[in-house]
Amino acid sequence: MSGPLISIAPARAAMPSVYTGGPTALRKATLRDIGPLLGLINDYAAQGIMLPRTEFEMAENIRDFTVIYAADRLVACAALHIYSPAAAEIRSLAVDPGWKQHGLGRQLLSALEEEAREFGLKTLFAFTYVDGFFRKLGYDVVDRGELPLKAWKDCLRCPKFQACDEIAMLKHLP
Ligand SMILES: CC(C)(COP(=O)(O)OP(=O)(O)OC[C@H]1O[C@@H](n2cnc3c(N)ncnc32)[C@H](O)[C@@H]1OP(=O)(O)O)[C@@H](O)C(=O)NCCC(=O)NCCS
Repeated sequence: MSGPLISIAPARAAMPSVYTGGPTALRKATLRDIGPLLGLINDYAAQGIMLPRTEFEMAENIRDFTVIYAADRLVACAALHIYSPAAAEIRSLAVDPGWKQHGLGRQLLSALEEEAREFGLKTLFAFTYVDGFFRKLGYDVVDRGELPLKAWKDCLRCPKFQACDEIAMLKHLP
């Protein structure tokens, strides 16, 4: 089987996106966001800086996602994926290239931290290449052996499985 049985995902607008300074809206994702989410995440995945996602995976995990829109354009997303009663991973964090450095990444992580607190989680972790960004937001580098084993399941299908250079980072929630 080469593709999805039923495509529910409208394509992401092809027009390049540029920061406008206009209002943005942050909310939990719905199934209607899958098309734009795939576009944003898989554009970065094609550059080797994020793990690619499929439509099926997105549907399965859509409740993890928070999105930010500027008018009708998806400009940022991130997911809170729970692994244990205490720990969750921040994953699929992406800000549209034209919208970087305007606080959207920080806004998303704050929203996911708030969500994590509401669930009673104690720690958040991430595998990342942007350790500087995570450091600014209170994360520290940790040995990946400190993270829940289940968190490695994505690694099994990662193209860099044999030579992983991602940095494991962790934050204890106050
Ligand atoms: C990493 C990423 C999410 C940051 O989002 P962003 O909206 O540009 O970040 P913000 O504007 O909220 O930045 C918050 C702070 O982090 C800093 N920062 C942002 N990107 C950074 C980076 N790559 N390295 C170091 N610091 C960074 C900002 O300067 C800002 O610091 P300040 O508050 O002192 O001014 C975004 O660059 C991105 O989508 N990158 C490509 C995908 C990716 O690597 N995702 C991470 C997967 S784990």
